[in-house]
Amino acid sequence: MQSFSNIADLRTHLLPLRRGKIALVPTMGALHAGHLSLIQQARSAAEHVVVSIFVNPAQFAPHEDFDTYPRNIARDLELIEGLNLDNITIFTPDISEIYPAPATTKIQLGDIDTRWESPARPHFFSGVALVATKLFNIIQPDIALFGEKDFQQLQVISQLVHDFSVPIEIIGAPIVREPSGLAMSSRNAYLTDEERKIIAPKLYQGLQDAAEKIRAGELVESVLEKAKQYLSAAGFAPIDYFAYVDSTALMPLSNVSKGGARLLAAARLGKTRLIDNIAVT
Ligand code: PAJ
Repeated sequence: MQSFSNIADLRTHLLPLRRGKIALVPTMGALHAGHLSLIQQARSAAEHVVVSIFVNPAQFAPHEDFDTYPRNIARDLELIEGLNLDNITIFTPDISEIYPAPATTKIQLGDIDTRWESPARPHFFSGVALVATKLFNIIQPDIALFGEKDFQQLQVISQLVHDFSVPIEIIGAPIVREPSGLAMSSRNAYLTDEERKIIAPKLYQGLQDAAEKIRAGELVESVLEKAKQYLSAAGFAPIDYFAYVDSTALMPLSNVSKGGARLLAAARLGKTRLIDNIAVT
């Protein structure tokens, strides 16, 4: 496993590897089993895998947790080593390597960036799109993997690649959960013991119950209302959204859908904002 923090060195290292496929797994570090499963899937899909570890300032608003976001590169490297995979390259650039000067070009994502995560985090997806574009251009992978955990992010990236004719295949990977059902997240580190064990898993419980009721034909509007009441009673506040949407443009749906549909939810629990989602098929 080789590690690079410099773009020029990384490119030189990757040059002879381009005969085989290269898969990129972009991360912000503080790795957990969700990230590790992406790396494993990437290695099954390609001969070489580049894992980027970069806490991207452009996707944090001034009031958000950029300064306190968990960082532990040594532990991240140990976790990746522990997978015992060959042909893994790590890219850990400094901020000045990715942003030698602030980028003045902005990516406008249109309609998908008006809903769900966007009102709570207005600069988030344009910051993600910017860093993803930079990483795509720096690494030029054949494939890039993103988790379904951040379902709107996955759709934003798919739209970006499609709209800009980026020659990269985007693969969405299933959500890895704790035994309690709580979706793994680097930000789960902010939860207290009680929140993590008892309350946080109810977000997934609420999604599962709602999915079952929609499948059984219950009125979508009332299912969503009851789900929000359930989460409020459990201690989540505020509930930013609990929505039933199509799984590409993420537009609200009011009926059981024959195409892919998804329930998306975001809610705050104490200091921590949690997001999760589930397919409704
Ligand atoms: P980060 O939150 O570190 O997540 C990196 C990747 O891991 C994302 O594609 C995310 O969806 C995936 N992931 C996180 N938790 C997961 C889980 N429980 N199961 C499966 N996959 C999971 O998302 C980002 O970083 C950043 O926005 C990034 C794309 C790197 C751009 O800065």
